[in-house]
Amino acid sequence: MTQNQDWAPDSWHRRTAAQQPTYANTEKLQADLQELAALPPLVTSAEVESLRLQLADAEAGRSFVLQGGDCAESFSECRPQTITNRLKVLLQMSLVLVHGLERPITRIGRFAGQYAKPRSADTETRDGVTLPSYRGDIVNGPDFSVAARAPDSARMLEAHARSAMTMNFVRGLIDGGFADLHHPEYWRLDWVSKSSSMDRYTQIVESIGHGVRFMESLAGRNIREINRVDFYTSHEALLLYYEQAQTRQVPRQQGWYNLSTHLPWIGARTAEIDGAHVEYCSGIRNPVGLKVGPAMQPAQVAALCERLNPAAEAGKLVLIHRLGARQVDSHLPAIIEAVRASGIPVLWMCDPMHGNTQSTSNGYKTRAFNDVMSELAQSIAVHRAQGTALGGVHLELTGDDVTECIGGASELVEADLARAYRSSVDPRLNYEQSLELSMKLADLMVGR
Ligand code: PEP
Ligand code: CO
Repeated sequence: MTQNQDWAPDSWHRRTAAQQPTYANTEKLQADLQELAALPPLVTSAEVESLRLQLADAEAGRSFVLQGGDCAESFSECRPQTITNRLKVLLQMSLVLVHGLERPITRIGRFAGQYAKPRSADTETRDGVTLPSYRGDIVNGPDFSVAARAPDSARMLEAHARSAMTMNFVRGLIDGGFADLHHPEYWRLDWVSKSSSMDRYTQIVESIGHGVRFMESLAGRNIREINRVDFYTSHEALLLYYEQAQTRQVPRQQGWYNLSTHLPWIGARTAEIDGAHVEYCSGIRNPVGLKVGPAMQPAQVAALCERLNPAAEAGKLVLIHRLGARQVDSHLPAIIEAVRASGIPVLWMCDPMHGNTQSTSNGYKTRAFNDVMSELAQSIAVHRAQGTALGGVHLELTGDDVTECIGGASELVEADLARAYRSSVDPRLNYEQSLELSMKLADLMVGR
């Protein structure tokens, strides 16, 4: 339960809120927020509670979490093909992990609400013209014009609607048998002709198929529980007006739930212990993620753990370290020691993307597949040496055939980036790289 007696869904207003837009029309802002608060929620408290139990399992080493999706969703990409491709790659990866780890996998999408982005500057200047920075489709538009860049509170209603459409489609696909383990062929991506990971994936699918049929012949019936998989959602809880408007009390449940997503997380740029984001996230019943970057001191991480999980509940706090391949060894051990000394239980996850971003000579933001794998391998080794365990990964990926990260089995190089670089924010692993990562990750986790 909330220990901070002064907490309320709006108590964050008394703190410094970094990364918030300034809305010119405050009356319209209030009217839009009132409407947002009156609309149906996107998730239910029962689902949030079941995710918390699953995260507690992962914390105890009984399962593993796969969290992934776009760096940022955009309104224009709320399209059936994009959504199914992303779902397919996450399902395939989770199948590879189930097979390799022999543990259940909890799947969490970075979708259905991942519309707000932190920026390093409030404004952007081009050719002597200064405009507000683009902060994600939930705030303003990406075009460099006065009209597009003006924060518009009605965009929060649009974000809610598009998140609901995404959720509705994902739920419909899953309920309709798309994620049925009897039919992993549904998850194939049309455009994948020949990839070196595909042969191994096909073997894994066949071996799982045998397993399912074996279990069913033992049980003498179709096993319903393994027909279906769950999918949870997550996004960065950045735009606090939006989060507050979706924070509700629920009959027969105690406390307040953020019903815009199952797992909101605090980004590396908004993790000040006295700041508004930490205040808001400290009072909700949802499990909460916290990104831990190389600039964070171990004592600071421990203090944040106490603030965000004051009752020391299992499955309540996910620490997502994103240190960068070159800083895992020097930073992670002391962070683990400080958290252990605090006595607060956490689920350890690794985001091997955000600490490994680099710029190429031809002006692209990219990440090297080798750096991503290296951060994962080192993180697993450090946790093993410390007696803790890595319980999940957080990835930026897409089911589409993009060229944004270099390396991987098809050995993408800088010159390939121009071919299909579609991200307007961070570079994502493409389908092949994602599948390859899941196979290598499974090997690393079981010590192969
Ligand atoms: C992100 O997850 O897209 C992000 C901005 O990450 P971080 O807060 O870790 O930099
Ligand atoms: Co990102």
